[in-house]
Amino acid sequence: MPKVIRVAVLVSGAGSNMEAIVKAQMAGRLPGANVVLVISSKAGVQALDRAARAGVKSMVIERPAFPDDSAFEAATLEALREENIDIVCLAGYLKKIGPEILRTYHGRILNIHPALLPKFGGPGMYGHYVHEAVLSAGEKMSGCTVHLVDEEFDRGPVLAQSTVPVLPGDTPETLAARVLEQEHKLYPKVVREFSEKLIRSGAQP
Ligand code: GRF
Repeated sequence: MPKVIRVAVLVSGAGSNMEAIVKAQMAGRLPGANVVLVISSKAGVQALDRAARAGVKSMVIERPAFPDDSAFEAATLEALREENIDIVCLAGYLKKIGPEILRTYHGRILNIHPALLPKFGGPGMYGHYVHEAVLSAGEKMSGCTVHLVDEEFDRGPVLAQSTVPVLPGDTPETLAARVLEQEHKLYPKVVREFSEKLIRSGAQP
């Protein structure tokens, strides 16, 4: 029997992308992947309720609870190891991934970004800032990108993108909603393809 890829989703807020991945799994659309852990960098966020409703184990690992970045990173890495996580999906996770996790999970950390990278990415480009920048630049198209995570914010290899039109009269909110709808389709699809590829290659740990 081929192994099922164990997925952790890291969140900091609403968790709608995490929920989209879990729902795809429940609907049988992610045969090679199983979301077994949700880690939130913040307590009390909606993502934790969504994880609980879906019956997925979740935990809060908050930076302020640790003396420094490396202790915070070590706790996160330990949680991933304890659950034998194969791939890590960032979904609205607002903390930078540390060097130890990047090394351990090299090529197996995915992120979703609400714009067409390499445009509108990098430090400070998150949430409404992204959509504001797209609108101010007068772009005709926007969209979302799933990419591999490396040391630089939003710069790792692109795995897939979906596009949406920017419409006259769009606000950051209306554009964000149109992009988010696509995110919920794209991320589960990429997780599926990525997991199946890992299984086929026999490269999973
Ligand atoms: C999404 O727009 C995602 O692209 C970005 O943060 C947002 C997270 O939304 N990285 P949610 O928490 O998945 O609802």
